[in-house]
Amino acid sequence: MGAGGATILDPYPARADGQDPITPVLALEGVSVHFGGIAALTDVALTVAAGEVCGLIGPNGAGKTTLFDVVSGVRVPDHGVVRLDGREVTSWSAVRRARSGLRRTFQRVQTFGWLSVADNVLAALEWRGGGGGMLADLVGLPARRRHERERRARVDEVLELCGLAAVADQPVGSLPIGLARMAELARAIVDRPRLLLLDEPTSGLDDTEVARLGERIHEIRAEESCAVLLVEHDVSFVMGRCDRIVVLNLGEVLAVGSPQQIQNDAAVRTAYLGEVEIGQVQSNVDNGGELT
Ligand SMILES: Nc1ncnc2c1ncn2[C@@H]1O[C@H](COP(=O)(O)OP(=O)(O)OP(=O)(O)O)[C@@H](O)[C@H]1O
Ligand SMILES: [Mg+2]
Repeated sequence: MGAGGATILDPYPARADGQDPITPVLALEGVSVHFGGIAALTDVALTVAAGEVCGLIGPNGAGKTTLFDVVSGVRVPDHGVVRLDGREVTSWSAVRRARSGLRRTFQRVQTFGWLSVADNVLAALEWRGGGGGMLADLVGLPARRRHERERRARVDEVLELCGLAAVADQPVGSLPIGLARMAELARAIVDRPRLLLLDEPTSGLDDTEVARLGERIHEIRAEESCAVLLVEHDVSFVMGRCDRIVVLNLGEVLAVGSPQQIQNDAAVRTAYLGEVEIGQVQSNVDNGGELT
């Protein structure tokens, strides 16, 4: 909690009917990561509930991407526990976590540039298989054709939702950054994730695209009851779109609270918000990796 007095909101209060509180989709307990002598994360605890949009903010080098790596299974923490829907997954591979409903977009867009937008999105459904194995492929069983139709329909639906229908057949690598980011988002949501991690999703987007992205995130969480954790340097976007904000500084949780509480927190203003005007924090991607 910040010295300025931001209250930690408990998103999982004891229920009035005496039942157990709802299990968060994501829970981190005591997570620490070191890179040699650098403490990237120190004893970090964090929870995100179903249907919640949680913002993760902090200065460059605060540990935000490292935290995403720990949650998604790219990096094993030195200490601590990661839970998804109450199950401990700390030792699970990234693939196993993805198959349990975790999806992620990256600080630097990672798409299959040579594939069309539609095929990038379709690729996220392929792991489920078509049913019937190779035989079904060879003879085109009805069940296989039905699966294929359903997948294409779902891809079309998501492309429409993300404003990508007009560029569905274009290679992602040929698109401007804003559309490429939306294609990456479409790929992340097409399989109806349980937990969605977005690392600087507005980076490189123009105002219209930022507004569309904010709407998409709210639709996704409402329709799919998905938990969303997003890292973002666009403070006005975070303040306007997140239910709750966690502030990291030098690898430690500095404050947790509502957007209002975070904006008024003296320690947060000193460590982060005070450095810049709201909405003026520069992305590390935008400036080519220079620290801001
Ligand atoms: N692979 C690595 N090897 C060594 N140090 C690393 C590595 N990855 C991150 N770090 C260090 O760990 C700390 C946290 O980095 P991280 O990338 O998680 O910060 P961040 O909050 O995502 O920053 P940014 O806002 O610039 O993206 C930094 O001091 C960084 O230099
Ligand atoms: Mg980062």
